[in-house]
Amino acid sequence: MTTAEIIVPVIPKIEGANFLNLLVVDDERAIREACREVAQSLGFNTFAADSAEHAYRLLDSHGIDAVLLDLRLPGAGGLEALNRIKSIRSDAVIVVVTGYGTVQSAVQAMKNGAYDYVTKPFSLDELKLLLDRVASHLKLKSENRILREKIKSKQGFGSIIGRSPEMEKLYRIVAKAAHSTHPVLILGESGTGKEVVARSIHFSGPFRDKPFIPVDCGSLVPTLIESELFGHAKGAFTGNQQAKDGLLAIADGGTVFLDEVGELPIDLQAKLLRAIQEKEIRPVGSTKHLPINVRILAATNRDLEEAVSQGTFRRDLYYRLNVLSLRIPSLRERRQDIPMLASHFLERQSRANGFERTLSDDALKAMLAYDWPGNVRELENCVERACAFTSGPVIHPSDLPAAINQLQYESIPSNAAAASKIMPMSEIERQAILNAIAQLNGDKLKAARVLGIGKTTLYRKLKEYASRS
Ligand SMILES: Nc1ncnc2c1ncn2[C@@H]1O[C@H](COP(=O)(O)OP(=O)(O)OP(=O)(O)O)[C@@H](O)[C@H]1O
Ligand SMILES: [Mg+2]
Repeated sequence: MTTAEIIVPVIPKIEGANFLNLLVVDDERAIREACREVAQSLGFNTFAADSAEHAYRLLDSHGIDAVLLDLRLPGAGGLEALNRIKSIRSDAVIVVVTGYGTVQSAVQAMKNGAYDYVTKPFSLDELKLLLDRVASHLKLKSENRILREKIKSKQGFGSIIGRSPEMEKLYRIVAKAAHSTHPVLILGESGTGKEVVARSIHFSGPFRDKPFIPVDCGSLVPTLIESELFGHAKGAFTGNQQAKDGLLAIADGGTVFLDEVGELPIDLQAKLLRAIQEKEIRPVGSTKHLPINVRILAATNRDLEEAVSQGTFRRDLYYRLNVLSLRIPSLRERRQDIPMLASHFLERQSRANGFERTLSDDALKAMLAYDWPGNVRELENCVERACAFTSGPVIHPSDLPAAINQLQYESIPSNAAAASKIMPMSEIERQAILNAIAQLNGDKLKAARVLGIGKTTLYRKLKEYASRS
């Protein structure tokens, strides 16, 4: 058959792939048929095309999830087809099929974003295994996506505001961390949302019904932290004092969030390390060890590596806590989230006071140019303060603190040195795109129009930036 064809989906026998849509692109009919059969037996809906052109048309109209692409198609070169497919459907998982002895092109295809490759001739079992992997990969991706959306949405406790590529990257890690039980070290400047992220990890995970217990290691006196964390036996401190359970035991299947963990005194660091390693604690004044079942999340705005090299933080504990680590970007690294965060805090104020307020363009401009050393917390305070100061429905620059107010006439980036620095074209392009989005209040479609590029290109670039950073 020479014309392109669509194979009508059949009811799958096994539901492993659960109606995922697979497109087979190959000019050899026998191969198309064989691939179709194997894929359908795994539960895929299959579509087929014998040319790149027809594949492009099918991609969008049929919501294709995965593509099996012959790299030796007549007409368009395989790599060109791969790039085009990626640009039409960036989420599609692409497996390339190469001829014997052309593994070089498969390697290039993987570099260009293909998920995997298979060399012709291949056995049906080989194909089955490969497609099985594709199905599991897609399933995991969609589970992670659902979780990410949940984290971003306002449901539950873990609502995190932000749609910048930096935050998208963070959501991916938070989603992964939520599924694991390893300790996570959350890094970030003050006010970036470390506790918000810790809550999000706990409340998005399977043990969300168990307790989430924050402990501020920075504000408690050392003896108190010890008895808070590990508990104490009857009369441990004074004659008739009752025994008390430690928070590590009370958490019972839940999470203890050690905030400002860098402030923990060195002797308690040793005790905490033992508790994590042995999964048991010894309450103050007791000789007995009690088993614990707790997940540890820790946060700090201090440079812990530096503390380790200065000997004020135990290296072994640092490694224990740092099994997974994530760094929350400062607000100035993700200015495009400022409008969304500001309106979130404005909405909250209007719900609390029953009075709706908006930001004037100039006020927003000044906020976009400001560096926010206190990050989201500072922005939150700034909005609350402005709501209290202004008498009308619109917040003007004069309602903002002086340090922000004076920036309304300056352009972004506020740093003049940065504007005159010699930069690679790719960096200039990146800044142009991010600044346009920030200045247009996060409106990506408008930004693409103003920049004179297609929206697909803009989204692709944002994705690239996210994966690079
Ligand atoms: N992405 C976000 N979306 C919504 N609110 C946020 C976000 N990040 C931070 N906040 C808000 O900003 C404030 C500071 O957040 P949080 O206490 O989590 O920061 P932190 O990094 O723990 O700060 P610190 O180092 O000072 O303890 C909180 O009121 C929180 O609700
Ligand atoms: Mg905090």
